[in-house]
Amino acid sequence: MSIDSKEPKVVLQIDNLESYYGPIQAIRGVSLKVHEGQIVTVLGANGAGKTTLLKTISGVMDPEKGTIKMDGTDIQSLEPDAIVRQGIVHVPEGREIFPLMTVAENIAMGAYTRKDRSKIGEDEEMVYSYFPILKDRRAQRAGTLSGGQQQMLAIGRGLMSHPKLMLLDEPSLGLSPLLTQEIFEIIVRLNKEQKVTMMLVEQNAKVALGAADYGYVMELGRIVMNDSAEVLAASKDIQEFYLGVSQDENQRGQRRWKQRKTWR
Ligand SMILES: Nc1ncnc2c1ncn2[C@@H]1O[C@H](COP(=O)(O)OP(=O)(O)OP(=O)(O)O)[C@@H](O)[C@H]1O
Ligand SMILES: [Mg+2]
Repeated sequence: MSIDSKEPKVVLQIDNLESYYGPIQAIRGVSLKVHEGQIVTVLGANGAGKTTLLKTISGVMDPEKGTIKMDGTDIQSLEPDAIVRQGIVHVPEGREIFPLMTVAENIAMGAYTRKDRSKIGEDEEMVYSYFPILKDRRAQRAGTLSGGQQQMLAIGRGLMSHPKLMLLDEPSLGLSPLLTQEIFEIIVRLNKEQKVTMMLVEQNAKVALGAADYGYVMELGRIVMNDSAEVLAASKDIQEFYLGVSQDENQRGQRRWKQRKTWR
C-alpha cells in the first residue's frame, strides 16, 4: 500500500464483542478493524482468547454481545456456511483436514459453498501452483502428510471458497523455522496476488509482525495494544514479552526487522 493512497476500506469491523464458554468469559469487549488488502495479526500468549475470537467471527461460536460486520453486513448471528458465503474462511488451529480423504478430495471440499462449479478445476490448479507438493501428493491420504504439508492443505482448501478474508489460526504451529518462513512467504503472496485479506493469529510474534501490516495484542480476552506492525515490532513491551529481545539486543533486532521486510 503506497503512502499517498487513501486509507483502504474496512472489510471486517468488530465492536464490543463478548464470548463465553458456559460461565467462562473468553472475549471481554473486543473491538477491531481489518482493512481491505492488509495482513492483520493478532498476537497473544496461551489462553489470551485468539482462537475464540476467530471462532466467533466464523460462526463456530455465537457471541453473547457485540457486533461483527463484514463489508457492512451484520454477520454475528449467521451460521458458519452463511459466513463462508459472505467471503470469510477460517483455517483452524490444528488444521482439521479430513485425514482419511485424499489431498484432492480435501481441496474439493473447500468449494462446497461455490455456485460456479465450472471454475473449480481452474481454482484447483491455482491452489497447486502455490503448493506444488500437494499436486504430487494429490492421491495420498491427507492424514499421512507432514505437518507443514497439512498446513498447506488447510490453506489450499480455504482458498477454494474464493475468500475475501482468510482467518488463519497459528499457521506456524509445530513447524520448523524454515517451513514457517516458507508458509508465511506464501501467505504474503496470496495476499498480494490473489487479493485475500488476512487476519492471522500467532504466538510467533517475530514471524507474524514480519509479514503483517497491522497488529493487535490480546491479553485475557482484551485488546491491550494495537498499532502498525513496524511500531509494534519496535515496541519495548513487545520485544520483551513476545520477541524475547533484551534491550541491548534492540539494535540488532532492528536490523533483522529490516532484513525480514525484504521478502514482503
Ligand atoms: N472449550 C472450552 N471450554 C471452556 N473454556 C475454554 C474452551 N476453549 C477455550 N477456553 C478458555 O478460553 C480462554 C481463551 O482460549 P483460546 O483457545 O481462545 O486462547 P488462545 O489465545 O487461542 O490460546 P493458544 O495460544 O493456547 O491457542 C482460555 O482461558 C481457555 O481456557
Ligand atoms: Mg489458540
